Parts: sequence; structure tokens; C-alpha cells
Amino acid sequence: MNSAVRKYWAKYKWSNIYAMIKNMKRLPEKNSEPFRNKLVVITGTTSGIGYYTARKYASMGAHVLMVNRNREKSESVRREIAEEFGVPVDHIIADLTLLPDIQRVGQHLLSLEKPIDVLIHNAGVHLESRRENAMGIEVNFAIHYLCPLIINKMLIPKYQKDQTGRILLVSSEAYRFAVWGLDLEDLQWKRRRYTGIKAYGAGKLAQILFMHLLSGELAPFRVTMNAMHPGMVRTESGKDNGKWYQWYKKNVINKFSAAPDVSAEALYYLGTSPELSQTTDVFFHLTTEEKLVPPALDLEAAEALLIRTKDFLNNEGIIV
Ligand SMILES: NC(=O)c1ccc[n+]([C@@H]2O[C@H](COP(=O)([O-])OP(=O)(O)OC[C@H]3O[C@@H](n4cnc5c(N)ncnc54)[C@H](OP(=O)(O)O)[C@@H]3O)[C@@H](O)[C@H]2O)c1
Repeated sequence: MNSAVRKYWAKYKWSNIYAMIKNMKRLPEKNSEPFRNKLVVITGTTSGIGYYTARKYASMGAHVLMVNRNREKSESVRREIAEEFGVPVDHIIADLTLLPDIQRVGQHLLSLEKPIDVLIHNAGVHLESRRENAMGIEVNFAIHYLCPLIINKMLIPKYQKDQTGRILLVSSEAYRFAVWGLDLEDLQWKRRRYTGIKAYGAGKLAQILFMHLLSGELAPFRVTMNAMHPGMVRTESGKDNGKWYQWYKKNVINKFSAAPDVSAEALYYLGTSPELSQTTDVFFHLTTEEKLVPPALDLEAAEALLIRTKDFLNNEGIIV
């Protein structure tokens, strides 16, 4: 038995799995209060969960600022939502795996006059084979973990000034596939055999571990940070995978998946409901609070991960 297995094995509980299965059947709580003139920033709104969430917030009167990589798709969504709901809709174009783009987004958000009432880190990918971005960084590691980490860290002075804000991480129950935690020696899957679901799960687990640390740092500024599983919903997730995956997605995954407006309702509730104004560092299954599995509660691992990440980013010329 290796040390990671020894560390977590005895802490796993079947009751945790049963609770998740029960939560899968529950519908999200809803908030019907408007959110007029409040600012919501959402990454990845050109399809799926992000798209429906941008529409939901706009329909409730919010000012929506979207961060997307594809200019054409983003402009079309921007125009559609602004015209349909009559609210301000802006966008920033950025590839959220590229460190300079991520920093540019952070700078832009930092320079906003208005408080960021809700910041939703939604952009994500599911890749069946290992992929690096143009800077040679593994994509799961970059988009699910480095991107929210860098942006949130950059925004600390703004949060300190504004004394308000909610940060939501669109996570996934797939973090459970990082069953024995993260391999700090191989965060980018260079040495181990890459599998899509494990690398995806590891990216989401890293995100959750970081949330435990940052939520504490943000609490004195009345800023909350929570993670959520958005349900299993029909989106364009996995669109870059091969034809077998596409067959499986169409004939199996989609058959068991819900429409993504359920995720949008949940993200609206988590971002706006008064009951959650103080709630921080919680994992929600849609809107139901859920206990995390042992590797996702490991604060020692979270600290060690942050040290590694700072070293990695320092080498890339980024201080966080
Ligand atoms: N669908 C589910 O059942 C499910 C379950 C659990 C968690 N999630 C999570 O939900 C989130 C949204 O996924 P989805 O299911 O809605 O999938 P989706 O339809 O594929 O949407 C993903 C969004 O992220 C954007 N994106 C991807 N790579 C990007 C990059 N490098 N830079 C900027 N934007 C990028 C995509 O933009 P492009 O149009 O340019 O590709 C798109 O707008 C993800 O974090 C995913 O892990 C989904």
C-alpha cells in the first residue's frame, strides 16, 4: 500500500457515496429575487452551463461580463443576450489556459470601478488525450486550477477595497476520480499515463484544495468562495475528443443528462440568495451542501500544492 492510499483509505465512508447519489435526485433551490445592476463575471459562456448561466443572470437584471476565447461566438452570445434582456453585456476575449491572457483578464477585472458581485469560474474542458497549450502547460492543470488561482489572487486588493463578492467554482463530482489525491511530482501528467477522467478530476481537486486556503484569506473582506457540481447536463463538453467518445456521449452520457438550465438556476441561487451571504468554503451538489471525500479535505496537501504552484508560476515570471 503506498503512502497516499494509507493516508486516505480508512477515512473514506460509504455514507458519502450514498449522500451523493441522493443529491443527484434533488432539484436545486431557486431564488426569484432580481439582481438588477449587479455585476456578474462568468468565464466560458459560448455554450453549455456558462451560456445558460449568463442568460439567467441577464434575465434577472444583472450586468454580465463574459470571458471567452472565441471572439465570433462570444460576440454572437453578447449581442443575443443584450438584445433579449436589455441589460449591459460585455466581454473579454482570452484563452484561459495561457498565462498572459489569464493575467490580462485579472488586470481588467482589477481595474473595474464597480464591485464584482459574483465571479463564476466556469470555463473548462474534458480531454480524452493529454494536451498542452502553446506555452507547453497541460490544459486541465491550466484551465481548472491555474486560471482561477491567478485571477482570484490578483483580485484580492479589489475585494479588500470593495468588501463584497461571491466567487463560485464550477467544479465536478469527478474530483472523486483523484481517489488518492494529487501527485505533486507530476501535476501535469508528464510521467504517468494520462487518462481524461483522472486528469480532469485532479484539476478539479486542485481547485477545491485551493478554495480551502483562499476562502480564509477572503473572509475578512466579506467575500465568500464556494465550489459546486452543476449536475450532469447536456453541453458541448468533450467536443474535441474523438469519434468513440462522441458516440458514447451521444448514446450514453446524454441519455442520462439533464438540460443545463438546472445548473444555471443553481449558480444563480448560490450567487445571489441572501441565505448564503456568509457561507464560504463549501462544496455544493447543485445547491445541496455536500461533504468532501478525504483527499479534498487535506489541508496539508493544499499547502504543499500551493507551494509547488508558486514555484512553478515564479519560474514563469508570475508572483502570486
Ligand atoms: N456538463 C456536465 O455535465 C458537467 C458536469 C460537471 C462539471 N462540469 C463543468 O462545467 C463547466 C462548463 O462546462 P460545460 O459542460 O458547459 O461544457 P461546454 O459546453 O464545453 O462549455 C465550456 C466553456 O468553456 C470555454 N472554454 C474552454 N476552453 C477555454 C479556454 N482555453 N479559454 C476560454 N474559454 C474556454 C468554452 O469555450 P469554446 O466555445 O471556445 O470552446 C465554453 O464556453 C466546466 O468547468 C466543466 O468541467 C460540467
